[in-house]
Amino acid sequence: QRILQATGRVTLFTIVVGAGSFYYIAHKDRTPGPQLPHDPTKKTLVILGSGWGATSLLNSLDTEEYNVFVISPRNYFLFTPLLPSVATGTLSPRSIIQPTRYMTRHKKRQVSVIEASATDVDPHTQTVTFKDMSEVQGLTSTTTMKYDYLVYAVGAETQTFNIPGVRENACFMKELDDAEKMQRRFLDCLESAAFPGQSKAEVDRLLHMVVVGGGPTGVELSGELHDFLEDDLRSWYPELADSIRITLVEALPSVLPMFSKQLIDYTESTFKAAKIDIMTKTMVKEIKENSVVLQMPDRSIAEVPCGMVVWAAGNTLRQVTRDLMAKLPEEQTNRRGITVDESLRMKGARGVFAIGDCTATSYAPTAQVAAQEGAYLARVFRQLARRDALAAQLAEVHGLPDDDPEKKVKVEHLESQVAKVDKIRPFKYSHQGSLAYIGSEKAIADLPFFSSGNVATAGVATYLFWRSAYLSKLFSLRNRALVATDWIKVKIFGRDVSRE
Ligand code: FAD
Ligand code: NAI
Repeated sequence: QRILQATGRVTLFTIVVGAGSFYYIAHKDRTPGPQLPHDPTKKTLVILGSGWGATSLLNSLDTEEYNVFVISPRNYFLFTPLLPSVATGTLSPRSIIQPTRYMTRHKKRQVSVIEASATDVDPHTQTVTFKDMSEVQGLTSTTTMKYDYLVYAVGAETQTFNIPGVRENACFMKELDDAEKMQRRFLDCLESAAFPGQSKAEVDRLLHMVVVGGGPTGVELSGELHDFLEDDLRSWYPELADSIRITLVEALPSVLPMFSKQLIDYTESTFKAAKIDIMTKTMVKEIKENSVVLQMPDRSIAEVPCGMVVWAAGNTLRQVTRDLMAKLPEEQTNRRGITVDESLRMKGARGVFAIGDCTATSYAPTAQVAAQEGAYLARVFRQLARRDALAAQLAEVHGLPDDDPEKKVKVEHLESQVAKVDKIRPFKYSHQGSLAYIGSEKAIADLPFFSSGNVATAGVATYLFWRSAYLSKLFSLRNRALVATDWIKVKIFGRDVSRE
C-alpha cells in the first residue's frame, strides 16, 4: 500500500510540475518583453522569405548587432513536411504554421516584419524593391530599401514544364492554400459523385484521383489520401468507397529515386496492398478539365478520365530569382539556381547570401539543408558583427597620435584579432537522414549510421519515429501541442468530411 501511495504521489507531482512548466513556457511565449529599437549606427540586414532557411536563421540570430528586416509575402512559417496531412484533414492548417512575429518579438532588438514580395533585387546599388501583393493595401504599397547584408531565401515554385492545363486544372502541394484547395476539390468530387442519377462512368471519373510526381511529396500525399479513404470515407460514403481510386504517375522507372532500392520496393509493395496504382515510365503530357493525357511506357498516348489531379512534379526558380541572376551574367550561369561560395555568399554580389531551394549546390533542395544553412548564417553574422566592432576599434586606435607609446602594440593586437575573425569557416552539411510517410501507418527512413553507411528502415516503428521526429522539429511548443492534439482528435473522432 505504501508503494502504491508513493507512486501516486510521484505521479501527481510529475503531472503538476509538467503542467506548471507547460503553462510557464506557453505564457512566456505569449508575453514578449520590450525590445531595443533599431539603431542607425548598426548595419541593415534584410532577410527575404519566412520559410525554412529564413526562420532557422532568425531562430539563432543575435539581432542586437543589426537592424533586421524580414520581407515575405507570408507573415508566417509553414512546416512543409506535414502539408499533405492538412490536405486530407489529418491536421488543421493553423497547426503547422507559426506567425513570424511569434519569433521576432522575442529578439533582443526589434525586427521589422514586412508582408510583401520582393520584386527586384539590385546587387549593384545594394537595394531591394518590394510590393504588398495582398488584397488590402494602404496608400503606399511599393518601396525600395538599401541593405548592407541581404539573405536571399525565397525558396522555389512548382515546376510545370509549361505542360498545357497544369496551371488551370491541377491542384498543387506547395503552400497552405494549395492543401486547403485540394481538400475542397477532393470532397467536392465525392459529393458530386453522390449526386442522384450520376452514371457509373461519371462516378468512376469523379472518384479517380491522380497524383503526378513520384517524389516524396507525391508519395506522401498518395499515402495520406489512402488513409483518409480507409479510416473515414468508408464509413461516411459506403456506397462510393469501393469506386475511389488513387493513381500515382511518375516519369522515371521508379518512385522515390533518392531512397535505397530496398525502401523503394517496400513502398511499392505497400502501395500495391493499399490498392494505390503506381504508373512508372509514364509522363503527363496535358491536363484537361476532366482527364489527364499520358504518354505510356511504350510511347502511346492515353487519355484517362479523373476528378482531381495533384501536381507534385518538383521545383523551379522564381521569376525574381531569375531576374537577380540575370543582373550578374558572368558569375550566375547555373540554370538550376544561384551559385554561392563555400560561405553561402552569392557569387558576384557584395553582401548577398543565398540559402535553400533558390540555390544550386551539391545538396538536395530540402528543409534539412535550408535549416542548417540558416543556422550557419546566424553564426556568420555573429562573426561579421565582431569583425566590424574590431575594425571600428582599429580605426579609433589608428587615430591616436603617433607618439602614443601604446599605439603600436594596440594596432598589432587588434590587427591579429581582425585577421582571426576574418576567416569564415565554410558551410558543412550534416545529413540526418531521409524520412517519408507512405500511408497505412507506415513510414520509410534512410538514416546515416555512424561512418558505416546508411540504415534503411520501414514499417510501423519507423512511422512512430517519423511522428516523433517531426514533432520535435516543429519550431514552437504551441505547434507541437496543436499537432499532437490534432493527431489525438483524428484517432478518436476521425477526419472531418464537411466541405468548407
Ligand atoms: P521555403 O521554405 O519555400 O521558403 C521560401 C519563403 O520565401 C517563403 O516564406 C515564401 O513566402 C517567401 N517568398 C516567396 N517569394 C518571395 C519574394 N518574392 N520575396 C520575399 N519572399 C518570398 N524537406 C525535407 O527536408 N523534409 C521533408 O519532409 C519535406 N517535406 C516536404 C513536403 C512538401 C509538401 C513540400 C512542398 C516540401 C517538402 N520539403 C521537405 C522540402 C522543403 O519544404 C524545402 O526544401 C524548404 O522549404 C526550402 O526552404 P527555403 O527556405 O529555401 O524555402
Ligand atoms: P521531386 O523533384 O523530388 O519529384 C518530382 C517527380 O515528378 C520526379 O520524380 C519527376 O520525375 C516527376 N515528374 C516530373 N514531371 C513529370 C511528368 N510530366 N509526368 C510524370 N512525372 C513527372 O519533387 P517533390 O516530391 O516535390 O520534392 C521536392 C524536394 O523536396 C525534393 O528535394 C525532396 O527531397 C524534398 N521533399 C522531401 C520530403 C521528405 O524528405 N519526406 C517530402 C517532400 C519533399
